[in-house]
Amino acid sequence: MRTKIVAGNWKMNKTLAEAQTLTTELMTLVEAEVTNAAAIVLCVPFPYLPTLQQQLGTNARMKLGAQNCSEHEWGAYTGEVSVPMLSAMHVPYVIIGHSERRQYFGETNALMAKKVDAALKAGLTPIFCCGEPLDVREKGEHETLVREQVEQSLFHLPADAIAKVVIAYEPVWAIGTGKTATARQAQDMHAVIRRLLASRYGQNVADGIPVLYGGSVKADNAKELFSCEDVDGGLVGGASLKAREFTEIIKAIG
Ligand code: 13P
Repeated sequence: MRTKIVAGNWKMNKTLAEAQTLTTELMTLVEAEVTNAAAIVLCVPFPYLPTLQQQLGTNARMKLGAQNCSEHEWGAYTGEVSVPMLSAMHVPYVIIGHSERRQYFGETNALMAKKVDAALKAGLTPIFCCGEPLDVREKGEHETLVREQVEQSLFHLPADAIAKVVIAYEPVWAIGTGKTATARQAQDMHAVIRRLLASRYGQNVADGIPVLYGGSVKADNAKELFSCEDVDGGLVGGASLKAREFTEIIKAIG
């Protein structure tokens, strides 16, 4: 059985005080209402990690994640945050290759491969994002592009390393637009990713890697998306900023 994961990507939102309030609300709701065993991950802005880590304390249900990391360990890289820094703060997850990093910061598949290596070396779980922009889908080239993204950023890994990666399929046209992929579109692409992993690493390894869906996941569409065979949870943006809505999404795992 693959681990089910619901991760919230807060992106560049909320003051520290608001972040603490949201975390308190979530802890209360999750404790009272969530009965499934899904892993819950909050990917918050860097400066909030230590405070929220303390706030979560020994809460076994919710873990923290960073939204990005440097490919370098230490040194003269002004403004960057390295994985050994995250690891020393006991942050277990890091998002790598979000489409907003690709789009606004020019991150390439090759750079993401280095970031994935850095994360794994320091013992963090990378949540590796892939997904096609609208024009690529309209040309019918979405499968080819996502295959390339996965191959170029992950396929240098040996089997025991890729087994520690989480993949998130996030079609760019569905991010922040309110346009969700249909359950069929999500399942089709997740199956493509799973087959690709199986062709390189064998079915056993492929079957163990969680593939999350991201892109306008909401309380009212989560159940249908999460019920797809190859959808192992979600990477949630806007809806993760509201405690009630995010809790409903977590509950939709079933
Ligand atoms: P939305 O849920 O706001 O569409 O964002 C998805 C996303 O980018 C998560 O990483």
